[in-house]
Amino acid sequence: MPTSRIAIFPGSFDPLTNGHVDLIRRATRLFDRVIVAVLMNPDKQPLFTADERVAMILESCAGIAAPGRIEADLFEGLLVAYAARQGACAVIRGLRSGADFDYERPMVSMNAHLAPEIETVCLLAADRYAHLSSRLVKEVAAHGGSIEGLVPETVGPRLLDRLKTETRTRS
Ligand code: PNS
Repeated sequence: MPTSRIAIFPGSFDPLTNGHVDLIRRATRLFDRVIVAVLMNPDKQPLFTADERVAMILESCAGIAAPGRIEADLFEGLLVAYAARQGACAVIRGLRSGADFDYERPMVSMNAHLAPEIETVCLLAADRYAHLSSRLVKEVAAHGGSIEGLVPETVGPRLLDRLKTETRTRS
């Protein structure tokens, strides 16, 4: 019986963008199950809690594939250890530019050193999302720019609300 092929798509997703959603959709064409894994990183101060990010991923990906093919989860510690626990054969990463390649290269090599049985599959970002990052989306929104088409519908209002709360807390 063929085994199901599972890929992990790890990241911060603070917040999920339409570029991420496009990669998740494309990854479901290659793998039976895609687990979008939010890193719980004590060194970073995210805008959204890890649980909020998981909830937004689940809501945004609900219509993309058949139920059960896309999951969202939290992880901490080594990515390859988490991937092995999930029975994954691959890690998905998106590349927008040469800068992304330079950032990913050592991580791909280190992960291959630690777990050669887990392959990293890098997907090139679609042209229309090549300029998109969570950091830039937050910056544009914080300065009153339009984020229409940059983040899923479920993310946009939450992002604007959160930025308003942040501004109030700081002033
Ligand atoms: O969205 P990001 O912040 O670019 O994602 C980075 C991520 C989560 C893929 C990376 O930081 C990671 O894998 N962290 C887990 C810790 C780990 O395994 N480190 C060794 C990898 S070389």
